[in-house]
Amino acid sequence: MRIDILTLFPDMFTGVFGNSILKRAVDKQLLELHTHNIRDWTTDKHHKADDYPFGGGAGMVMMIEPIARCIEELQSERTYDAIYLMAPDGTPFNQHKANQMSMLNNIMLLCGHYKGVDERVRELFVTEDISIGDYVLSGGEIAAMAITDALARIIPGVINDGTSALSDSFQDDLLSAPVYTRPADFRGHRVPDVLLSGNDKLIAEWKMEQQLQRTQARRPDLLNK
Ligand code: ADE
Repeated sequence: MRIDILTLFPDMFTGVFGNSILKRAVDKQLLELHTHNIRDWTTDKHHKADDYPFGGGAGMVMMIEPIARCIEELQSERTYDAIYLMAPDGTPFNQHKANQMSMLNNIMLLCGHYKGVDERVRELFVTEDISIGDYVLSGGEIAAMAITDALARIIPGVINDGTSALSDSFQDDLLSAPVYTRPADFRGHRVPDVLLSGNDKLIAEWKMEQQLQRTQARRPDLLNK
């Protein structure tokens, strides 16, 4: 899979993309990540990428021209399955969406900033707007990082333990069971006996019960789906 990220702040991505699972996915050549500075596609001497909104109002609007040039240059090099705009008013991102998106070969993530992007970017280029939650971030970069991370970890081969990504919270609309490691007794707080029993069947039953209890207590909306 290849992900191209269009942003005004490419430096924000270096730490996140250079560590942990994302770094591993890239090193294993299971994922290609490319960031593009939208400012590189401006043509004026001040590299202006935003302007005042027509009709007035607070905040600046990201201009269509540099974004269009950047998108079109990338499209001239390969075919893209989808162009996603990071926006608080977009489709809510969740595990199902991550699973769907991870099947695609080439995608672009466009990071909005300021008051938003010129609406014609949506009309002419964007396949779908995506939101990572009902709150407003100062830009789409953190959303693009979250989405990239969620996609990378479910690409087959990225996580060594093939079953691990499948048993994540949300993967079956249930939250995960609690997990424990050594010591079995920390200041009198003991790991549940069943986990030390060696009885795989009992352990599996206990985990399922914990998942159901946890989901009922914290996210009953998931059980009603
Ligand atoms: N940009 C600003 N807020 C956002 C959000 N919640 N999700 C995606 N992109 C955003």
